[in-house]
Amino acid sequence: MNRRRRNRGGGFDEGVPSATISLEPRTRSRSFFSFCSWDFGILAFVIFIASCYMFLYIYMNPTIDKLPPISGPDYDSKQWGSYRPHLYFGLRTRSPQSPLFGMMWYESQLPHGRPQVRHWCDQNDGINRYGWYEADGRSFGKQNISDKFATIHTDWIQEANGFKAKINFDLKPGKIANVLFYLTSQDNTVFKQGYHLNEVFKAKSEFLGDFKLSIELKDERALFMKSVLLTNEKVPINMYQDIVVGNSEISVESNPGSQEKMFFMHLNEKVNERDGRMAVVQLNLIKSTEIYIKLGKIENQGANSDFEKEIQKKSQNFKTKFEKVFEIENKNYTAVQKTMAKVALSNMLGGIGYWNGFNKVQTSSGLQNYGPHTLFSAVPSRPFFPRGFLWDEGFHNMLIRKFDPKLSLEIVVSWMNLMEQSGWIPREMILGPEAEARVPQEYIAQKMDVANPPSLFYVIDKLVHDEKVVAKYGGVLAKIYPRLEKWFFWLRGTQHGTSKTTFRWRGRNETTNLELNPKTLSSGLDDYPRASHPSDIERHLDLRCWLALCARVLERLSKFYGTDADHRKFSKHMEELNDFDQLVQDHWSEEHQGFYDYGKHSEDVALAMVPVPGPKRVEYQRVTARAATNKFVTNVYGYNSLYPLMLRLIPADSKHLKATLDKIRDPKLLWTKFGLRSVSKTSPYYQARNTEHDPPYWRGYIWININYMVLSALRHYADIDGPYRENAENIFGELRKNLVENMGKQFDKTGYIWENYDDSTGQGRGSHPFNGWSSLILMIMSDKLET
Ligand SMILES: *[C@@H]1O[C@H](CO)[C@@H](O)[C@H](O)[C@H]1NC(C)=O
Ligand SMILES: *[C@@H]1O[C@H](CO)[C@@H](O)[C@H](O)[C@H]1NC(C)=O
Ligand SMILES: *[C@@H]1O[C@H](CO)[C@@H](O)[C@H](O)[C@H]1NC(C)=O
Repeated sequence: MNRRRRNRGGGFDEGVPSATISLEPRTRSRSFFSFCSWDFGILAFVIFIASCYMFLYIYMNPTIDKLPPISGPDYDSKQWGSYRPHLYFGLRTRSPQSPLFGMMWYESQLPHGRPQVRHWCDQNDGINRYGWYEADGRSFGKQNISDKFATIHTDWIQEANGFKAKINFDLKPGKIANVLFYLTSQDNTVFKQGYHLNEVFKAKSEFLGDFKLSIELKDERALFMKSVLLTNEKVPINMYQDIVVGNSEISVESNPGSQEKMFFMHLNEKVNERDGRMAVVQLNLIKSTEIYIKLGKIENQGANSDFEKEIQKKSQNFKTKFEKVFEIENKNYTAVQKTMAKVALSNMLGGIGYWNGFNKVQTSSGLQNYGPHTLFSAVPSRPFFPRGFLWDEGFHNMLIRKFDPKLSLEIVVSWMNLMEQSGWIPREMILGPEAEARVPQEYIAQKMDVANPPSLFYVIDKLVHDEKVVAKYGGVLAKIYPRLEKWFFWLRGTQHGTSKTTFRWRGRNETTNLELNPKTLSSGLDDYPRASHPSDIERHLDLRCWLALCARVLERLSKFYGTDADHRKFSKHMEELNDFDQLVQDHWSEEHQGFYDYGKHSEDVALAMVPVPGPKRVEYQRVTARAATNKFVTNVYGYNSLYPLMLRLIPADSKHLKATLDKIRDPKLLWTKFGLRSVSKTSPYYQARNTEHDPPYWRGYIWININYMVLSALRHYADIDGPYRENAENIFGELRKNLVENMGKQFDKTGYIWENYDDSTGQGRGSHPFNGWSSLILMIMSDKLET
């Protein structure tokens, strides 16, 4: 997904759907059927012209239509959750009509400093640490934020008709904090100002009924000034903080204690309208205090009633369930490692979001809108990738389904409802104009022949092997099954190779000479090296293994939810794609004792400065010293080579298993003290730049999702009979220890879980906090990787 190149943080919001381009040319044909009384010749002529017109129209505007939605497990779309993960603290419900609640704050540095507003999670804010350390993805969360001038806690709980929150501002001596809370309307709800803090805003909402927002301070002396902004201006979702700053003014007041003059920045109330679609309240705090907030029915009482007691209970239940599911407490882990385990889960669940809007899709006639969609999904990273990524979501739910299988099913169903009629699912969900504003132009458009690993099948595999889930949610699995079938046939059909058992990711650039090895973004492994010269004869090992897994899962699903004929059909697919001898024939190099891609490949390529005409004069180009020939890509051993192991295609007694285990354990190849590196140290592509501007990404660094998959396969081979059982057990133990120790150490040092880890120093790298698939460290720490 070429994530590294994303713009700086924040992402986007829940999105006002943009103006729509009509996607329904087919409706035009209907009117022609009412012309039957016409003279036949004229009618035939009209039909002829109309058909030509329709043909042209459809040709010029290929339709992109969603399948009719399937329903998942029930949920209440009026319940509030922390479903705005790109904000430090933002809440909403799972409906496009939901008002949005959010918090901003900044240190008052007047008279000189400009306000540095904290709102969207942003690595440039220089916040030392932040993240959820308890959260269930549904009903509550506890978060710490260490800003430079204050420590902040944002704790919240869901209530029947709203939510309650406690925001604790612990200010460093002499510091002043300006804290803002806002509500914005996404339907025709408007907010009115109340008479005191206990009813700071009131709303009449069709969706939620009448409600109010109340605020209470534990120490009222901490509040120096309160100001309010109400505007009916249609504020774009990515402009909230600009509006707030733009509508602020400065006044000079004397400090009640010392009488000295002080400057305060506050909202300019003179510009306010009587009511507003955006309502903001600002509190200027001169002392540390706790702020209680409540959104609820008008007749409700104070904001802080019973907050402590209720959150205590939530917290206790969470810890009990966490321990019951993962059994970490009595293992030989350090206190830091145990904290990391809880943070891993909490940030994953606290990072779940809800969005609505349209995708941009590239078609033969240009960009088209696809949607409107709603999406409920976890995210890879709150500051950097706060949106849905298809293959990441499979890994996210390997963890989520352990703690809350129903939540996983809700997420899977949401993704299944993005499916196009052909069976295609966009691999990255950039919904709405605000989302697009955060993503480089060249990456916005999704392409309909581009796939992404169907890692959600792995999750479904676990769910259909879980008796309790099958008993309780069989009805949902039955509805998911036809979608998975469609997806499978779409993959088989569009990503086929040159034979029935070989496959090729589409989307590699066959003509570029600017990349050392043209990227394969669709595979999820981005710049992981493949055949040097992309061509139609390529065979991609990982894709082949994914399809083998898909066929196995569909075989099982069809046994439960399909007809006998379905089951016979998928048994055949399963046999064909899981035929190990065939896999060996398609992908095994006897000489190099490993599984590899096959394609047009040269081992003599390099990036070099080449003179070019024009003002640039030189540019980096790929030069090929010896022509590419058709062969296995044996100068790259790495994560791709491990897919037959990871997806368990290798028989337990085969020499191929031994060879793979030996290669894993070899420090010259993939083994490090910190986990398995992505590309062998002996490969010419190890830590190689792909272009002048593209540093290595999947070319050496340690990624946790793949390490998890390897560990989970090692566990499998250690648990079943076979000559290499002990070997698998030993490697499992060592690899697990290395990963847990290093990630624990980095967590202790930085407070974060990272996107990937340096294979020579162990240091965390890339975006952070990264509680997408790196959170799988928790599964690694528990003994239940597999069940
Ligand atoms: C967050 O703050 C609480 C209360 O001060 C503290 O007990 C806890 O250790 C902190 N958690 C993290 C992960 O920093
Ligand atoms: C627990 O871990 C410590 C430190 O890693 C080690 O010294 C000790 O032997 C371990 N104890 C057991 C019972 O494994
Ligand atoms: C392939 O790369 C070339 C040169 O870098 C570029 O001009 C072209 O647009 C690319 N093709 C696609 C389909 O991206």
